[in-house]
Amino acid sequence: MSKFVLISDPHITVPNPETGWMVERVPNEPTMYGESVELLEAAIDEINALPDIDFVLCAGDLTKDSEPYNHDGVRELLSRFHKPVFCVSGNHDQPRPPALRPVDLLDPHVTPVRTDEIPGLYGDFGFKNTRLTAYSCDPTPDVHLVGICSSKPDEDRGWISPEVLAWLEEDLARQRDPQRHTIVMLHHSIIEHVPGEKTNPTFSWFHVENSDALKTLLHRHNVRVTLTGHLHIQDVKVEGGLYNIATSSLAGFPHAYRVMSLDDGVLDIRSRRLRATRSIPDLQAFSLQFTADSFVAIIAGMLCAAPFSKPAHEARDTAEKLRAWWPTIADGDGDFEYTAEDLGDALLAAYVNSFRDRPPADNDLQIFLREP
Ligand SMILES: [Fe+2]
Ligand SMILES: [Fe+2]
Repeated sequence: MSKFVLISDPHITVPNPETGWMVERVPNEPTMYGESVELLEAAIDEINALPDIDFVLCAGDLTKDSEPYNHDGVRELLSRFHKPVFCVSGNHDQPRPPALRPVDLLDPHVTPVRTDEIPGLYGDFGFKNTRLTAYSCDPTPDVHLVGICSSKPDEDRGWISPEVLAWLEEDLARQRDPQRHTIVMLHHSIIEHVPGEKTNPTFSWFHVENSDALKTLLHRHNVRVTLTGHLHIQDVKVEGGLYNIATSSLAGFPHAYRVMSLDDGVLDIRSRRLRATRSIPDLQAFSLQFTADSFVAIIAGMLCAAPFSKPAHEARDTAEKLRAWWPTIADGDGDFEYTAEDLGDALLAAYVNSFRDRPPADNDLQIFLREP
């Protein structure tokens, strides 16, 4: 029996200790960088109060943009958990070129930490070998945990290096105990959570570019569970018996984390949501509004471009009608259906409806690991 917690994407953002430089908000981005510390602190308080937790997992995007002082901040915060913590890095935990992040949103006075420096910084959080951006361990007798840094250098998408794939092949080949279940944590998804995620340039940055190679390896070793972050949504997809469980950001709506219990081959997953922080007593309502406002702006921008090519005022009016669309997706388990009449556009209605969810459940579910 094991019980553990999964958090993701805390995006810790503190002022540069020497200059005070800090970005609290990024335009059209719903991540609450300015409140990231108090959000993680709220999660730490809640999770430390839960009974019988064996360990805590964090699926990457530890920092805003890999500033060294934000890595210092997140390591200090993670050390406040009462139980062992295991983490991986995300696309925000490596240098971000101007195409991904305008330079005025990057601290000009620091050199960002690279992915190959993550193992040296996070030795207390899973990494054993400073030269390998992956690790494995057995935090409890029935869990074999694999952590992989999945960020492709200079891009937001994921990629698993041949070196890590070869290491993983050897690591999984050594697992012979049927009572011990392998759980693989990485930042980017390996099963499509949104339509066309793997190939559509709008979404391919969500995905591990060579996910097929990783999935083939995982199938060969009968791995059933992968845990990811990055999309900032609560969503579970399954493909050929392999689950990809995407978990929301602590720093954005719906501020969910997952409590997972493994008992006799059954993985029980229950999702909880942060309800308040020190400065935001009604976090869920505040954050829902903030996220919806951000996505109205994003969608309006999208509708001005091809293939929709709407005039600005019409794009804004239509985007307002889709105010609930992405928050519903992020929250998991919700449904929606927009008609051509609702939106005044059959192509747009078909597009947004293509994101309707399908089983399994996204927030609370059980996975029977011994069943094929
Ligand atoms: Fe993130
Ligand atoms: Fe990410």
